[in-house]
Amino acid sequence: MEELVIRGGRPLKGEVTVQGAKNSVLPILAAAVLVKGEVTLTRCPRLRDVETSIQILRELGCSAAWDGDALTVDASGLCACAISDALMREMRSSVVFLGAVLARCGEAECGMPGGCEIGSRPIDLHLSGLRAMGAEIREEGGALRCGCRRLRGREIVLSAPSVGATENLMLAACGADGATVISNAAREPEIVDLAGFLNACGADVRGAGNSTVTVAGKRVLRGCTYPVMPDRIAAATYLCAAASAGGEIYLRDAKEGHLRAAVAALRESGCQIASDAGGISCRATGQRKAVAPVRTAPYPGFPTDAQSVLMAALLRADGATVFEENLFESRYRHVGELRRMGADIRVFGRVAVVNGVSDLHGAAVECTDLRGGAALCVAALAAEGETRVGCLRHIDRGYEDLRRDLSLLGGDVVRVNT
Ligand code: EPZ
Repeated sequence: MEELVIRGGRPLKGEVTVQGAKNSVLPILAAAVLVKGEVTLTRCPRLRDVETSIQILRELGCSAAWDGDALTVDASGLCACAISDALMREMRSSVVFLGAVLARCGEAECGMPGGCEIGSRPIDLHLSGLRAMGAEIREEGGALRCGCRRLRGREIVLSAPSVGATENLMLAACGADGATVISNAAREPEIVDLAGFLNACGADVRGAGNSTVTVAGKRVLRGCTYPVMPDRIAAATYLCAAASAGGEIYLRDAKEGHLRAAVAALRESGCQIASDAGGISCRATGQRKAVAPVRTAPYPGFPTDAQSVLMAALLRADGATVFEENLFESRYRHVGELRRMGADIRVFGRVAVVNGVSDLHGAAVECTDLRGGAALCVAALAAEGETRVGCLRHIDRGYEDLRRDLSLLGGDVVRVNT
């Protein structure tokens, strides 16, 4: 088993180029199914979830090959429409392939994506939208069997601005007769990046980033080369690392416009954050201050994926900060591990209250989920002594090389086999 061994207590100093965005490249890889030709994604992060998506593409008969940080996918040879249960269990967000495979093949089959560490993760909005477009979807024996003679474009109003449902319906709409209008769509930057990719292939997607997205159907999509957007949650993680340990860092390619809510909270805590054309700088000196209540919400609200790392950055703040997690029902699992390091956190359902303590101490901790694991590393950089972080498979799903990046920022972090 591997562990990260982190010796905390010293300020960070350094700079790093932010990896490509996990939550953008995953739906873009599903969108590649719609393209009869080669697509090349540059700044493509090498993540466990990307490898899982590559396995799904190959299982469908597509080819995929790396060349440095560029991944080239060719779906010309697509000859299957079923995603194996094993791969669905490996990555539940594979459900975003459903819309694309339906649009390409007229049928699709995959295992029912279960919940995960952070919640039950329902997909009712995905399925009701696809059914509204004419898909017949049977849920039997833990599998989803979908068929449609033809997908029809229409207006779909989402009862919640679901990121995955918006993406799934955008992809299905590319293969529908007529235009589809998605109302109450998610507005995340990753939606904008997916639309950018589709339009670079010849699609006609408008309004991405707003609450109403319109997709013209039946456009012939051709191969292209497309740069994946920088990962805003990885950037938030590193900003919180500097806020936690102190010091001065620079994040190349990070875009403040993707992170306004998180940057505002960090500025309120006393960090000096500035942006230029090349990225974001963060200078953290002295003690953090507690901030106003942090309520997670769909974009442009405070991102749920940054909740745990901001919490970690405020464990030694002067005062108490209240967190309210409104997106997922089990997203405080990292709290118990942070307590092992001396944190004072009380959880009351969706609310967590972080009382600043004077010191944190190293401990043996285990990742409970992707962003909770990152939070343990953020806290460890501020803890006196050595912290050993286990269950790294969670972190490897979303960070290309957290050890490398935190070391480049000046952290004392090594990855060891135990
Ligand atoms: C995406 O998940 C991200 N994952 C998540 O990042 C992120 O936390 C989430 O969006 C919110 O920003 C990827 O992009 C791969 P949702 P997704 O559908 O699409 C409810 C990470 O750490 N809902 O916007 O699953 C749902 O229960 C991951 O990188 C329904 O009720 O999120 C949740 O409360 C974690 N029915 C809320 O909507 C549905 O059909 C937000 O879910 C779908 C969702």
